[in-house]
Amino acid sequence: MSIDALSPGGKRRSGRLDIRNAVRSFNAVRAVDGVSFSAEPGKITGLIGPNGAGKTTLFNAVAGELGVDSGEIRLDDQRIDGLPPHKVFSKGLARTFQIPRPFGGMTVLENVMLVPPAQLGERFWNTWLRPGAVAREEKKNLEKARAIIEFCGLTKVERQLAGAISGGQQKLVELARALMADPAIILLDEPGAGVNPALLDTIVDRIVELNQRGMTFLVIEHNMDFIMSLCDKVVVMAAGKVIAEGLPEDVRADKSVVEAYLGGAAA
Ligand SMILES: Nc1ncnc2c1ncn2[C@@H]1O[C@H](COP(=O)(O)OP(=O)(O)O)[C@@H](O)[C@H]1O
Ligand SMILES: [Mg+2]
Repeated sequence: MSIDALSPGGKRRSGRLDIRNAVRSFNAVRAVDGVSFSAEPGKITGLIGPNGAGKTTLFNAVAGELGVDSGEIRLDDQRIDGLPPHKVFSKGLARTFQIPRPFGGMTVLENVMLVPPAQLGERFWNTWLRPGAVAREEKKNLEKARAIIEFCGLTKVERQLAGAISGGQQKLVELARALMADPAIILLDEPGAGVNPALLDTIVDRIVELNQRGMTFLVIEHNMDFIMSLCDKVVVMAAGKVIAEGLPEDVRADKSVVEAYLGGAAA
């Protein structure tokens, strides 16, 4: 099986993400303070802003790890706010973490294989009544995992423990895990942070190729070259709010954006 067999989000989903007036507080801190924007299907949207702006909190809220205090989040017109992470994931939204979270004691291949597709084998009656179907399903999953691992440039390390590979390779493992679910949209939290330039090129290439195949991305990144060259649109957050949104070159020239970076923590 090759990567060509992967269909972003299947045929029905477009990966459109709409965030409307999302609020999420931690005690007195409104980490996300009335955020509204959309990630258009088939596009790469960048999310930037100084440290502490609320970007990761917004990702956690969208992916169901935190939930929102108020506001609405829609994926392809379906409300996803209030859903737990596995439900959001199964609806076609996958995310990676700022700090990769692989299962360090398992191999790269095992980490990728762990992602639950609609697995026949998990339903006990299938194991009992249709062992052939389960074996076929397992073989299909293994082939898919291998194709994705190859696509992510990880074949050489697929038998190594995920805890023993470099931080950049761990980011690619996270991307591979996300791809196992055929997501319509992937949220990447600082894919370039702590990654050496050669591996960053690989990550960028993979994002571009997936995007050309129709996959939607929302990407938090501090690397301005990355944002400027990759993104169709950039959303800027500061102190929990969206302060600017537009084409990369327009946003970079925006006075309020420059001020937010100068006034905020170094980013
Ligand atoms: N789990 C948490 N508990 C309390 N405060 C948090 C938590 N997560 C984030 N915050 C606070 O929310 C604000 C936004 O943080 P974060 O979303 O991580 O920003 P960014 O990703 O833009 O750097 C910060 O003031 C941070 O201290
Ligand atoms: Mg963050």
